[in-house]
Amino acid sequence: MTAANPIGVFDSGVGGLSVLREIRRELPGEDLLYVADSGYAPYGDKPGQLIEARSVAIVDFLVNQRAKAIVVACNTATGAAIATLRARFPLPIVAMEPAVKPAAASTKSGVIGVLATGSTLASENFERLFTRFGTGVDILIQACPGLVEQVEAGDLSGAPTRALLEQYVLPLLERQADTIVLGCTHYPFLAPLIREIAPSVAIIDPSAAIARELRRRLADAGLLSPEARAGTERFWSSASPDKAQPVISQLWRAGVEVWSLPDRSDGKASSW
Ligand code: DGL
Repeated sequence: MTAANPIGVFDSGVGGLSVLREIRRELPGEDLLYVADSGYAPYGDKPGQLIEARSVAIVDFLVNQRAKAIVVACNTATGAAIATLRARFPLPIVAMEPAVKPAAASTKSGVIGVLATGSTLASENFERLFTRFGTGVDILIQACPGLVEQVEAGDLSGAPTRALLEQYVLPLLERQADTIVLGCTHYPFLAPLIREIAPSVAIIDPSAAIARELRRRLADAGLLSPEARAGTERFWSSASPDKAQPVISQLWRAGVEVWSLPDRSDGKASSW
């Protein structure tokens, strides 16, 4: 493993691109590999075992592409698979989780809302966060079925997306939430719309902190790229590239090529 190797990033779909853009900002010289598992999205309503198998198969793929570190750019995959991934793959793995801690530290009303998938909110990981940082703060949890599908379709501002967001966000405001945690990496793409619906609320997205954490982990392992050149990005999707390419290009704000991810959904992949 050398510092010149790329960094592997994955999500259930295109949501992790919100993390990838922060990684690109923090680490301009690194080569980045991104897997969108859009053929299996949303993860939020899938059994934990399937999410775990998909996560293992994708990390195996990324390791075979010579990834020197992995970013699990998906709160749902973190909840279902992080222990297995860390036990199985001996390389730095940075994972997402809802940013309950900074939200609890900064709320003035003492009420925070957490938007995430049902699966994240039901995970042991989240239970731990809730217990650890929930003292003296009211944490309102809100699962958001349908939102991931809207982002996967590239609909960031249409009437159906707005209607769903109003349904999820307005009840939090009624209960005096002044801070909203985006506990799913698809949701930062909806932040402009959330700001319209809830202009006075603080929105917390941990992606930039995750990118800084990645930098620290790479530095500690002696794996920060010394290259002065601009890093590259390469994209794969388990949805058909024809379908994936326009949405990934829209969210990445550049026309990109998208490769087809070989299908090894059994999680036993070892020779991609
Ligand atoms: N981006 C994933 C997350 O952070 C979305 C999960 C899904 O596909 O339901 O949780």
